[in-house]
Amino acid sequence: MVTIRDHVRFTDLKEASPEDIRMLARNESEIQRTEMADVVLGHLRLMDGANAGFQVDRLQHSLQTATRAFRDDPTDEELIVCSLLHDIGELMAPVDHPSFAASIVRPYVSEENTWMVLMHGVFQGYYYWQHLGRDNTLREMHRGHPAFEHTVKFCERYDAPAFDPAYETMPMEAFEPMVRRIFAQPATFRPPKG
Ligand SMILES: [Fe+2]
Ligand SMILES: [Fe+2]
Repeated sequence: MVTIRDHVRFTDLKEASPEDIRMLARNESEIQRTEMADVVLGHLRLMDGANAGFQVDRLQHSLQTATRAFRDDPTDEELIVCSLLHDIGELMAPVDHPSFAASIVRPYVSEENTWMVLMHGVFQGYYYWQHLGRDNTLREMHRGHPAFEHTVKFCERYDAPAFDPAYETMPMEAFEPMVRRIFAQPATFRPPKG
């Protein structure tokens, strides 16, 4: 936990001085750098036991997606961490969890991986939306996007098959150092892009 020693004097943001704002920005970036990984890992743990009827719970699905990415390429930490966190919004934003998850990873990862997380719901829809009377080919409207094939691969190889209780899934502890490394980087503000 970061110790905050200085506090601003203003009670109305309109009266903030440049020094106030710079001090707050310094504190906030220090908090992000040191605490973000714990916040994210803590939220991921809330998915333990959450299950709508799959053979694995939401945490196991996330771990299994990340395990599959890891076994494909153990050096691609950014993709592994995005795989681990791609469904992190399912509890807080069940209607649009990809947007929630993308907003968490966006400041720390490439535009390609952010887009993959943001769009994975539409791309996963390819496998089952037809059973709900929805257009499962909606992802085709994005064909040609620089991250299209990357997102197809993520769904086909990591996300879609990651509901298997018999698969040897790596534990949370295996991924924690990777999450810490990704979230210890300075955050870059990137406005959302569809
Ligand atoms: Fe998802
Ligand atoms: Fe998923």
